[in-house]
Amino acid sequence: MAPRHWRVAVTIVVALAALTPRAARADGHDTQGRRVFEAKRCGQCHVPGGRESGMPALEELRRPQGAWHLAGRLWNHGPAMFTALSSQAVPWPAFTIEEMTVLMVYLGVNPAADPAPDPQRGLAALVQKGCLKCHALGGEGARIAPALESRADAFTSPAVWAARIWRHTPAMAAAAMAHGINYPRFTGHEMAQLVAYLKSRTGAPPAR
Ligand code: HEC
Ligand code: HEC
Repeated sequence: MAPRHWRVAVTIVVALAALTPRAARADGHDTQGRRVFEAKRCGQCHVPGGRESGMPALEELRRPQGAWHLAGRLWNHGPAMFTALSSQAVPWPAFTIEEMTVLMVYLGVNPAADPAPDPQRGLAALVQKGCLKCHALGGEGARIAPALESRADAFTSPAVWAARIWRHTPAMAAAAMAHGINYPRFTGHEMAQLVAYLKSRTGAPPAR
C-alpha cells in the first residue's frame, strides 16, 4: 500500500473508533437512533419479537455488526421497502447523515467488526454485483448511471454511504426494472470490500 493510502486507512480507523457503540451510547446516540427508527416508521414493521408475515423482528435488526455490513443490509432492504411503501402510497423516507449515524448506532454497529481492505475481493464484488451494468469505473462499464468516480465523496464512511445509497434506491430500483437487471444483494464483508476497492480506485477523501 502506498504511504498516502496508509494515512487514509489510519484516518478512517481512527474516525470510526470514535463511534464505538459504548462511546455513542454515552452520548445519547442510542436514544436518538431509536427516535429516528420510530420517526421513519421502521417500527411499523420491525417490532420486538417479530410478527407473522415475514417481517424480521427488531432483535434481528439490532445486533452487534460491522458498519459496512449494516450498510449492506440497508442496501438489501431497498426493493422490499420500496414495494411496500409504494403500495401504501407512503413517501420514501429521507435520511440526513446525522440521522443515519444515530440509526446505525441504535442498530448495534461496531466498526471493529469490519475487515481489513482486500482489493481483490473488492474487485470481485464489483463484478459479481453487476455495478458496471449501469455505472462506469475507469472508462469501463455502462453509461446508464453516473460514473462511480464522480461519486467518490459517497465512499467516505458507512453512514455517508448508507444515506446516499438510501436516497437513490428508488432511481436504482427503477433502472434495474427498466433494464431487466437483478438488484444486487450483499452478505458478509462484500460491501466493506466493494467500497474499499472503489475508494482505492477513486482517491476518495478520508472519513468524516
Ligand atoms: C413495510 C414494512 C417495512 C418497513 C416500514 C421497514 N422494513 Fe425493514 N424489512 C422489511 C422486510 C419485509 C424485510 C425482509 C426482506 C428484506 O430483507 O428486504 C426487512 C428487512 C430489514 C433489514 C435486514 C435486511 C438484510 O438483508 O439483512 C434491515 C436492516 C431493515 N429491514 C431495516 C429497516 C429500517 C432501518 C427501516 C426504517 C427506515 C425499515 N427496515 C422499515 C419490512 C419493512
Ligand atoms: C440497474 C442499474 C444500476 C445498478 C445495477 C447499480 N446502480 Fe448505482 N445508480 C443507478 C442510477 C440510475 C443512479 C442515479 C440515481 C440518481 O442520480 O437519481 C445510481 C446512483 C448511484 C450512486 C450515487 C448516489 C449519489 O447520491 O450520488 C452510487 C454511489 C451508486 N449508484 C453505486 C452503485 C454500486 C456500488 C452498484 C453495485 C453494487 C450500483 N450502483 C449498481 C443505477 C444502478
